[in-house]
Amino acid sequence: MKQAVQNLLDTASNEVSGLGDDQKALDQARVKFLGRKGELAQLFKELGKVPEQERREAGRILNEAKAKLEAIFSDALENSRRLAAGKRESIDVTVPGRKPQQGRLHPITQVALEITRIFNWLGFETVEGPEIELDYYNFEALNIPKDHPAREMQDTFYISEDVVLRTHTSPIQVRTMEKRRPPIRIIAPGRTYRCDSDVTHTPMFHQVEGLMVGKGVCFGDLKGILTTFVHQMFGHDVGLRFRPSFFPFTEPSAEVDIQCVMCRGQGCRVCSQTGWLEILGSGMVDPEVYKYVGYDPEEVTGFAFGMGIERIAMLKFGIDDLRLFFENDLRFLNQF
Ligand code: PHE
Repeated sequence: MKQAVQNLLDTASNEVSGLGDDQKALDQARVKFLGRKGELAQLFKELGKVPEQERREAGRILNEAKAKLEAIFSDALENSRRLAAGKRESIDVTVPGRKPQQGRLHPITQVALEITRIFNWLGFETVEGPEIELDYYNFEALNIPKDHPAREMQDTFYISEDVVLRTHTSPIQVRTMEKRRPPIRIIAPGRTYRCDSDVTHTPMFHQVEGLMVGKGVCFGDLKGILTTFVHQMFGHDVGLRFRPSFFPFTEPSAEVDIQCVMCRGQGCRVCSQTGWLEILGSGMVDPEVYKYVGYDPEEVTGFAFGMGIERIAMLKFGIDDLRLFFENDLRFLNQF
């Protein structure tokens, strides 16, 4: 009996130490040894077979074993509970911190700010205008009457007969001149809309408008200011050219091309082998426009220009798909 009890105690403590902090397994083991049909109970049953004179001593041994077994299990359970709690509560100070996601300016916003910063530096003041615009400011006062073919160049979203989503930022020119007297030097960024959607067009896009009006402002000023801008934006070694063009609200008009930023003028897919990329429209404000705002074309002259911000951003960052700007995939945006 003594031997049997010792064996039982040894197996129990071996088994318990093998179970570590597995509380469920410990509980099962406790039932196996101490339960009503457990191994210790089995030994108690055999007590009856023990000769009378030894029975008292055997009983004492068994009761002692019971106490020992109970201690083994309560210690183990207590221990495992403490370990589990420790795992939950302890802080591992060596684990690298999790960086919080930080927002940043969208590349289009960054480029818009960069453009306005350059013109602010050249003395142009930033102004804004409404995106929902009167036909009058978007077309009429820019020398584009209702039946003018130039309206078809711009696929307009009409809200009503007289109200449109502005198709360009040029209405801000008219709104500004209407409110102020020359000299004027403004730069006006904002959203613009055209009913157009393909690989190179999105229904909403961004433009920046510029306007300078005063006594004796001439085409040389336009050239000088825009050349300075291109050099600031794309670098001093980038070539540019002024190419004759047409806009109903400027005369003469010119489009500005820069040397292809991808091939440095050698000719590639991006510049259709020409070596040049168009970046903006410009011209001397047409005297017809001054009539709408009450300026005397004999007194003042000026120039205006407009450029697409997405286009500038694509050239600056070497991005070949316009749609990337609007999908807002963080993997793309995080690169700026
Ligand atoms: N508004 C013209 C466009 O959207 C660009 C432009 C602005 C041209 C000012 C000349 C002067 O195409």
